[in-house]
Amino acid sequence: MPHSTSAPPLGVGMVGYAFMGAAHSQGWRTVGRAFDLPLSPVLAAVCGRDRAAVSAAADRLGWAAAETDWRALIARDDVSLVDICTPGDSHAEIAIAALEAGKHVLCEKPLANTVAEAEAMTEAAQAARERGQLAMVGFNYRRVPALALARRLIAEGRIGTLRHVRVSYLQDWGEDPDLPLVWRLTKDKAGSGALGDLGAHIVDLAQHLSGELLTGVSAQTETFVKQRALPGGEAGQLGEVTVDDAAVFTGRLASGALTSFEVSRLAAGRKNQLRIELNGAAGSLAFDLERLNELEFHDHTLPAAEGGFRRIQVTEGDHPYLEGWWPPGHGLGYEHTFTHQARDLVHAIAAGTQPEPSFADGLQVQRVLTAIEESAAKNAVFTPVPVPE
Ligand SMILES: NC(=O)c1ccc[n+]([C@@H]2O[C@H](COP(=O)([O-])OP(=O)(O)OC[C@H]3O[C@@H](n4cnc5c(N)ncnc54)[C@H](O)[C@@H]3O)[C@@H](O)[C@H]2O)c1
Repeated sequence: MPHSTSAPPLGVGMVGYAFMGAAHSQGWRTVGRAFDLPLSPVLAAVCGRDRAAVSAAADRLGWAAAETDWRALIARDDVSLVDICTPGDSHAEIAIAALEAGKHVLCEKPLANTVAEAEAMTEAAQAARERGQLAMVGFNYRRVPALALARRLIAEGRIGTLRHVRVSYLQDWGEDPDLPLVWRLTKDKAGSGALGDLGAHIVDLAQHLSGELLTGVSAQTETFVKQRALPGGEAGQLGEVTVDDAAVFTGRLASGALTSFEVSRLAAGRKNQLRIELNGAAGSLAFDLERLNELEFHDHTLPAAEGGFRRIQVTEGDHPYLEGWWPPGHGLGYEHTFTHQARDLVHAIAAGTQPEPSFADGLQVQRVLTAIEESAAKNAVFTPVPVPE
């Protein structure tokens, strides 16, 4: 594994240090050791709201300093890149302030809680780009090597004209009857439920892998458990769940290909299962996050007698991102997606090129999520998604 610690430093400041904060920290800690980079990420400072807790997190996750106000983090001279790992209600304010202060930004998905916020963030990112600052949204599943390979094969025309994209992303933590009303279950904090949390990922993947935008959707959503215990409330005190638990929707891509999607937090036994299949006139590709080192490929140009899905083990040195890792057959995991995300962002910053997915890409996903909510409110009426010219 090469390392690039002699490269000029790139000071990173991260806001939020729980689930995504830990995952991003691992990405920043490992990226310069796994890959040859033109800049060397330095874990300069992490920000939370509680002094003792954020100091402990800084020690545990490897950050040199701790801040208790994100404005102070942004103002630090040793921070050039602000990495936002907080719930969606704070993404817009932090991202816009950081961009206006001359910092690069990495923002977790979904980009924002509303289209209006996402539009303001995209405008700020476009203005910042002219000053040399870059912004990226964290759709990390694009960086699973098997999915990056799928993208490559599709772009090379290996599955031909696209007919279908079929995706599901399922979890089951919502079935816990003792689950309190955490921020993910409230619209003011999270924007939406399974939709923004899981749906954002698979809408992005469907558009990214196909290279096409969704032009319209037809959707149903449901909140199965309508009340949950109030955190910090008295025993038996309940609060309203204000987001969806699950959504099913169909859509059309620009080429006319048909898509179907399902997301749920109440799919018993499914912990974090993301499955995607794409069918084209010349072949099909299938992926399951529970087997993330594998990609299934059916080449429909072969004689029928030789057809059928074959399993590609995506661990060869010339597969996407594998140049940084182990000999063939020694698989990767979920956490590597965050290292790959950091790698791609560092390269884009050094080259001054737009990293992908951009805030504009995140905004387009937000438009799809909003169209899904509008359609569901009208009993699944087909709802167009505004697409940029
Ligand atoms: N890419 C992925 O696969 C993925 C997975 C999970 C979550 N996410 C996204 O990451 C973001 C965070 O989710 P999470 O699961 O890490 O949540 P979490 O609850 O585990 O952590 C949120 C963190 O934000 C901090 N925080 C909240 N408000 C703050 C503020 N005003 N100032 C400073 N810190 C603040 C909290 O203290 C906590 O450390 C969300 O946008 C979520 O949708 C992405």
